[in-house]
Amino acid sequence: MIHSLDELKTKQSTQENKFIPQIAVIGGGIMGQGIAQTASSNGIEVILVEKNEKLAEVALKHLESSMNQEIERWSLTIGEKKSIMSRIKTTGKIEDAAHCPIIIEAINEDFGLKKRLFHLLDQACDPSTVIVSNTSTLNLTKLADETNRPDRVIGMHFLNPVPKIPLVELIRAMKTSDETFTMVKEFAENQLGKKVVEVFEYPGFVTTRVIIPMINEAMQVFSEGIATAEGIDTAMKLGYGFQTGPLALADMMGLDDVLMWMEQLWQQLGEPKFRPAPVLRRMVREGKLGKKSGEGFFKYEEEK
Ligand code: NAI
Repeated sequence: MIHSLDELKTKQSTQENKFIPQIAVIGGGIMGQGIAQTASSNGIEVILVEKNEKLAEVALKHLESSMNQEIERWSLTIGEKKSIMSRIKTTGKIEDAAHCPIIIEAINEDFGLKKRLFHLLDQACDPSTVIVSNTSTLNLTKLADETNRPDRVIGMHFLNPVPKIPLVELIRAMKTSDETFTMVKEFAENQLGKKVVEVFEYPGFVTTRVIIPMINEAMQVFSEGIATAEGIDTAMKLGYGFQTGPLALADMMGLDDVLMWMEQLWQQLGEPKFRPAPVLRRMVREGKLGKKSGEGFFKYEEEK
C-alpha cells in the first residue's frame, strides 16, 4: 500500500531503475534471432552481434523472412514486424554491445568458441554487465571462470521457437550471485513475459536432458526401418499428445545442434542413451541440418 506521494515516487523510480531498456544478443542463428525478436517485441532495444557486419545483416534478413511467414499465417501484423525491426541494430563488433546491462550469448555450442567469447566480453564490457549464456549442455561455471565477474554470469536457456515457448530455464553457476539471479529472473518474467524454472548447473539441465534420449530413440527406430519419419512423429503426437513429433522437433532444433548436445551429454554423463544414432551423424555430414538447411528428416521447401 502506498501512503504518500514521496513513497509513490520512490517506488516508481525503483521500478524504473530495474527496467532493462537495451540488451545485446551475440550470435544471429536460430536462437539469437528468436531472442532478439522476443526482446524487441517487448519494447527492448537490441544490438544483434555476429562474427561480422555482413553475417549480422544476413541474420536480420532471416529474421525478417521468418516474421513474413508469421504474417502469412496471421500470427503477426505488418505493423508489429516494423516495430520489432526498428528496435534491432546489427553489428560485427562486440565493443558495440559493451554498455548493455545484459548480454545474451547464443553462439554455437562449442566450449572453445564460447570460452574465447566470454574472455573477450569480460575485457570489453562494463564491470556491471551481466553475461548470460544460452548454452544447453556446456559447463557454465567453467565459462564464468574465464571472466573476472563469475558472480555476474548466469545461464538462461530459451527454447526454440523463442517467441512462442513460454519457458526459460534459469541456471545458477557455482558463483552466480543472488543479485544477478534476481535481476535476470525479473527481466525474464516482467519484461519478456516468460515462466522461469530455476535449475542448478548440470549437463542438459531439465529440458535438454529429458528430451534428447527420446529424440535419439526415435532416430534409432527410424534407421531400423520400423516406421517412416512421418509414421514415428504421428504415433508420438497422437499417442502421447505431443504438439510436435521427436523428428520434426530435432529438425527444428538443428541436427548439428542436436548432435553436439548428444556428444556433450554422452561425454559428461557417460550414459549410452546419449550416444548419437549413426543416422544423425550421417545426416549432419551430408549437410542435412533440418529446417535451417531445407532438409532433415523432413523437407522444408520454403526454408531453402
Ligand atoms: P546456430 O548455429 O543457428 O547459430 C550460431 C550463430 O552464432 C551463427 O550464426 C554463428 O555465425 C554465430 N557466431 C559464432 N561465433 C560467434 C562470435 N564469436 N560472435 C558472434 N557470432 C558468432 O545455433 P543455435 O541453434 O542458434 O544455437 C545457439 C546456442 O543456443 C547454442 O549454445 C545452443 O546449444 C543453444 N540452444 C539452441 C536451441 C535450438 O533449438 N537450436 C535450443 C536451446 C538452446
